[in-house]
Amino acid sequence: MGHVFFTNSGSEAVDTALKMAIAYHRLRGEGTRTRFVGRERSYHGVNIGGISVGGVTANRKAYSGALLPGVDHLRHTHGFKENLFARGEPPHGGGDLADELERIVALHDASNVAALIVDPISASGGVLIPPKGYLKRLREICTRHGILLIMDEVITGWGRLGTPFASQYFGVEPDLITFAKGVTSGAVPLGGVLVKDSIYEAFTAGKAPGIEFFHGYTYSGHPLACAAGVAALQTYEDEALFERAAALSRDFEQGLHSLKGLPNVVDCRNLGLIGAVELASGAEYGVRAFSVFEKCWDKGVFVRPVGDALAFCPPLIAEKKHLDQMFGVVADVLKSSPPS
Ligand SMILES: Cc1ncc(COP(=O)(O)O)c(C=O)c1O
Repeated sequence: MGHVFFTNSGSEAVDTALKMAIAYHRLRGEGTRTRFVGRERSYHGVNIGGISVGGVTANRKAYSGALLPGVDHLRHTHGFKENLFARGEPPHGGGDLADELERIVALHDASNVAALIVDPISASGGVLIPPKGYLKRLREICTRHGILLIMDEVITGWGRLGTPFASQYFGVEPDLITFAKGVTSGAVPLGGVLVKDSIYEAFTAGKAPGIEFFHGYTYSGHPLACAAGVAALQTYEDEALFERAAALSRDFEQGLHSLKGLPNVVDCRNLGLIGAVELASGAEYGVRAFSVFEKCWDKGVFVRPVGDALAFCPPLIAEKKHLDQMFGVVADVLKSSPPS
């Protein structure tokens, strides 16, 4: 993936990638390919394209009738009881879940489908780890039908799984990757879309000099943001932070799964340096997790409530002692929370 189109956020990267996919097919004489496939509980930012292909109901419901037409959603990958408390990639369901894409493609005909977009781990949807083989099977189906695969790596990019991108961790080659956040370690807003050479060339080959892609932001490739990006990437390399994340992920897994058996804990799931603990629904969805979040916050630990789940995503520079502190505080709070 030798080419990048810079944006200022993950949301802009996603909408850019969707537009690129449609334009790419049109340039190649397949202008009927305008449909997208997204997934329930996936999060792709808050712009109109991103919420259309995304599957987080709270972000969509106020705009339901005004979203992009021509979008289908795969079902999300969560909910198999065989996958509860899985360490790493859950074992069950990957193939069947991915094969649902075949059904959607058959319904519309591949000649109308531009791209599939998935976040390898749906983080804002509750940290849903893809079951074994799921992403590889999606790749195969996309390839078979000439559908572009967009991996939204805004969360998983830049070392979260111990590899530069989650695509590399899963051994899956997407056609486009969206990124943001970690490229500057969040210091300055910067995002972008990485594309395969073949996509870049479809826009540029044989064209008269001039603008190839009528799309761009005033601050695309802003020098300050790019300087911060260069500095962050240099630091990742100098301090071997991706390798460090990979090594720390074992302690992270251990700490997270030590919460199993505490009051209200109905699932623990993790991969790399990201994970979640799911709590039994209380009287009202999300209220219990929010209360745990508040109590942890008062004790100096930030865990993110996402519905009934508590999401953990420590910085790559964290040390074992920080993980011990984080899971220790969460354990204390859970032990003191009222049973369901
Ligand atoms: C997978 C994914 N895509 C897109 C976005 C949107 O990025 P931003 O908030 O920079 O617009 C996010 C943000 O959390 C994300 O997690």
